[in-house]
Amino acid sequence: MRTTVGIIGAGPAGLFLSHLLHQRGIESVVLERRDRDYCERRQRAGVVEHGVAEALRESGLGERMDREGFRHDGIELRFEGRGHRIDFPGLTGRHVMIWAQTEIVKDLIARRLSDGGRILFEAEATAIEGIDGEHPRVRFASAEGAEETLECDYVVACDGFHGIGRSSLPEEVVRTYDKVYPFAWLGILADVPPSCDELIYARHDRGFALHSMRSESVSRLYLQVPADTDTADWSDDRIWSELATRFELADSAWKLDTGPITDKSITPMRSFVTEPMRHGNLFLAGDSAHIVPPTGAKGLNLAMRDVMLLAEGLDAWYARGEASGLDSYSEQALRRVWRAEHFSYWMTSLMHTDPAATEFEHRLQQSHLEHIAACEPAAAALAENYTGLPHV
Ligand code: FAD
Ligand code: DHB
Repeated sequence: MRTTVGIIGAGPAGLFLSHLLHQRGIESVVLERRDRDYCERRQRAGVVEHGVAEALRESGLGERMDREGFRHDGIELRFEGRGHRIDFPGLTGRHVMIWAQTEIVKDLIARRLSDGGRILFEAEATAIEGIDGEHPRVRFASAEGAEETLECDYVVACDGFHGIGRSSLPEEVVRTYDKVYPFAWLGILADVPPSCDELIYARHDRGFALHSMRSESVSRLYLQVPADTDTADWSDDRIWSELATRFELADSAWKLDTGPITDKSITPMRSFVTEPMRHGNLFLAGDSAHIVPPTGAKGLNLAMRDVMLLAEGLDAWYARGEASGLDSYSEQALRRVWRAEHFSYWMTSLMHTDPAATEFEHRLQQSHLEHIAACEPAAAALAENYTGLPHV
C-alpha cells in the first residue's frame, strides 16, 4: 500500500492531521490498532482552547461544537471554602469551549470517511523503517491478521504515549525529560445535571477536586487520589461524599447534586517531553512526544496544535517546495510544548495536596492562591495560559 503521509494513530492528532492534509490536497492513510467504537468512546479531555476551537471551525468541524458544546468565559478556583472567579474575556479577550474529545473524534472519523479518507481500524503498526532514506515505510498487522506495508514520503506517529513512534527514533538523537507525581485522578461520568455553570477547580486539605461537564444532563468530575488507587475501593457513595467535602463552601447554600455514575477511571499524573520531535522522515505529534498532567487541560490542545503546525509545513513543501516549515517543526512545536508543560506543572502544584509537602510549602501554596484571587496580573497569567497563548 502506498500513500503520501503515513499516519499512525486515530486519536485527535492523527485524525485532525489527516483532515487538514486532505483539505490541502495531500493524501494520507491512518493506521489505528483499536476499533472505531473504542476510539469514539474513550473518555478523556473536555476543554478546547480558543484558538483550537477557531481552527476546528475554519476546517469545517465547528458546527456541532457550537450547537451542542458550551462557551465558557471563566473558571472558579475554590479554596479555604471560598470561590474566586477567573474572568477569561476580561483578562485576555479569549474564552474556551467545553466540548468532549469523544465528540471531536466522532466528527473527525465521520468527516474523513465521508471525504473518502482511509482509516484502517484494527491495524496495528509494528515497525517503522527507512526513516533516514527517501522511502520510509510502516509495517502493520491488518484487521485480518495479514502482515502489510504502508509506503510513504513521511511517517507521522500520532500513536500516543504507548505507541511505537517515539521508540523508533534512534537512541543517540533522543533526549527525554519526565516527572511522575505521587497522585492520580479518579474520573467519573455521571447522569446528573452539572451543579455549576463553569468549571470548579477546588483545592482542599484532603486533595484536589474538579467539577466539569459534558452536557445539560451529564457531569464529569475528578478527585485527586493516591497513585496506586484501585477504582474497586471507591463505591459511588464514597465518591460523592468525598466530592461534596472537597467542594464545600463556608458561607453558601451551594450543594453538589448527585446521580448514577456511568464510568470510573484512574489517570496517572505525569509530565514527559521528547526532544527532538522529528528525525529524518519521521515526525512525532501529540501524546507520542509529550504528556502533561491534566490540571491545565492542555493535552488535547497541544496534540491539535502540533498537527496544525505540521500540516502547514507539509503544505508549504508539497505546494511550493519550501522545506523550512518541516525543518523548524520540532523547534517550534517544542516551544509551545514547554510552555504548556510549565503551566500544567504549575497548575498541578498549585491545586493538589502533595503528601510529602511540609507545612512551609503548604503555606506557600495558600499564599500563591490568595495572590491569584486578589491580583489581576496574576489571574491574567493563569487565564492567558488556560485559554491558549496565541503567540507561542
Ligand atoms: P491518543 O488520543 O492517545 O491517540 C493515540 C492513538 O494511537 C490511539 O487511538 C491508539 O489506539 C493508537 N495507537 C497506539 N499505538 C498504535 C500502534 N502501534 N498502531 C496503531 N495505532 C496505535 N487534554 C486537554 O487538552 N484538555 C483536557 O481537558 C484533558 N483532560 C484529560 C482528562 C483525562 C482523564 C485524560 C486521560 C486525558 C486528558 N487530556 C486532556 C489529554 C488528552 O486526552 C490527550 O492529550 C489526547 O488524547 C492526545 O491525543 P493524541 O491523538 O496525541 O493521542
Ligand atoms: C476536563 C479535564 C481536565 O483535565 C480539565 O483540566 C478540565 C476539564 C474534562 O474532562 O472535562
